Amino acid sequence: MGWSPDFSEKASSGKLSIGVIGLGYVGLPTAIGFHDAGFEVWGVDISQRTIDMILRGQNPTGDPDVNDIIPVPGSDRWNITSSIEEAVPKCDVILVTVPTPVTDDLKPDLSYVQKAGISVFENLVPKSRTIVVLESTVYPGVTANTWHPEIEALGLEIGVDVEIAYCPERFNPGDAAHGVRSVARVIGCSNPTIGESLVHLYSRLTSEDVRYVGKLEVAEAAKVIENVQRDINIALVNELARIFPELDVDVEDVLSAAATKWNFHRYTPGVGVGGHCIPVDPYYMIQRAADVGVPAELISAARTVNRTMPLHVAGIINDILYKAGVPLGSGKVLFLGWSYKAEVGDPRETPAEPLALALHNKSVHVTAWDPHLNTEDFPSTVECLQDINSAEGFDLVVLVTAHQDCLSIDWNQLVHKMRNPIVYDGRRVLDLEHLESLGWQAHAVGRPL
Ligand SMILES: NC(=O)c1ccc[n+]([C@@H]2O[C@H](COP(=O)([O-])OP(=O)(O)OC[C@H]3O[C@@H](n4cnc5c(N)ncnc54)[C@H](O)[C@@H]3O)[C@@H](O)[C@H]2O)c1
Repeated sequence: MGWSPDFSEKASSGKLSIGVIGLGYVGLPTAIGFHDAGFEVWGVDISQRTIDMILRGQNPTGDPDVNDIIPVPGSDRWNITSSIEEAVPKCDVILVTVPTPVTDDLKPDLSYVQKAGISVFENLVPKSRTIVVLESTVYPGVTANTWHPEIEALGLEIGVDVEIAYCPERFNPGDAAHGVRSVARVIGCSNPTIGESLVHLYSRLTSEDVRYVGKLEVAEAAKVIENVQRDINIALVNELARIFPELDVDVEDVLSAAATKWNFHRYTPGVGVGGHCIPVDPYYMIQRAADVGVPAELISAARTVNRTMPLHVAGIINDILYKAGVPLGSGKVLFLGWSYKAEVGDPRETPAEPLALALHNKSVHVTAWDPHLNTEDFPSTVECLQDINSAEGFDLVVLVTAHQDCLSIDWNQLVHKMRNPIVYDGRRVLDLEHLESLGWQAHAVGRPL
């Protein structure tokens, strides 16, 4: 049980029992991945709905890549339970994949990591050296600072009863090419022997590189800066998408031209960023920098640009409606897509929500159609359209999410059912010239009006 000198050998041959605490977007595919790799798996979640669905072989997340791959009920080596008391004593390694959101005032909310840690440590077999690995995204210092005091308070000892490590999850939901079994992993641990042992374990999960990178904080920081970098890169093109239309230049033309240079990195502007990572993780880094008295100015500025993008787009849409002669208070806008990203049914932190709210505050009526979501995923101020073929009488259609279903609607049919045939491409993926040839008045983020 737990770490022993033959751990690496057992890991390489799949003879370990792996616990996964939190069976959401990250935890469920991770549990399935370890099961597929031959390990005994104990999956635990506090949500009874999640447990019941998984036990029926149903996917409780909006990630379509998980459909049809959940082991069938009763499968060998596959144990799903809401009882952490039952699971923890059976495991050699426990992976914690719980949420790390921000509070309303944009501060890191570490309560899930803390609570999950406590329930794991309370149920450990003494002297088992069970390895507890945090996979949730955090800022450097969280694993040790949050868990060490709990371990000590329970009278447990690292190196005797428990070992702790950090291995961030980097897979991309809705993107089969970057699933849990095909992304590189980094492992942080203050004990190099444990870190190197975990390399053997994760090497059986993924076909990509697995590396022990040193202390916990290195791996924690690596994960958070990956998402900080993405937020900054997207913020740059979003800022350019605000500047260039004022110069009567389409930002996409500029980006395509610049991208002919070998070292230019091409990003695409949009109505805003969403999900559990990009709009959240930078606040973890901002907080940590503030703790040590260093201003994270660039990271904060990028956050501001991306967070205000929906407001900026709402202003443009309002101008377009005004110019089209739509009387104040009677504008009707249809959102194509609501999820924060294409092909995934995930409304968390979606920029659609602040965009809809900003339009609602300007007395524009918002209806949304997203075939990946259910009615209850939409806020009460937004009407949910069930069938795109029943869309009628709108003044403007906004492409919010580049789901294939949204791109391939019958544009020729819809143009004739609009009150005003205006389209706004919030993702820069539509063929605007083609739409114009069908009779649409086409606008897009970063395009001059
Ligand atoms: N979603 C992504 O694309 C992604 C990618 C990489 C990393 N991450 C990170 O992974 C972590 C998890 O994200 P997610 O998207 O899977 O979240 P999620 O909300 O989809 O899933 C978390 C699950 O944990 C469960 N849970 C909460 N507290 C628990 C507890 N004490 N015991 C047992 N279960 C508990 C919840 O019920 C939920 O099912 C976050 O830190 C996130 O930043 C997410």
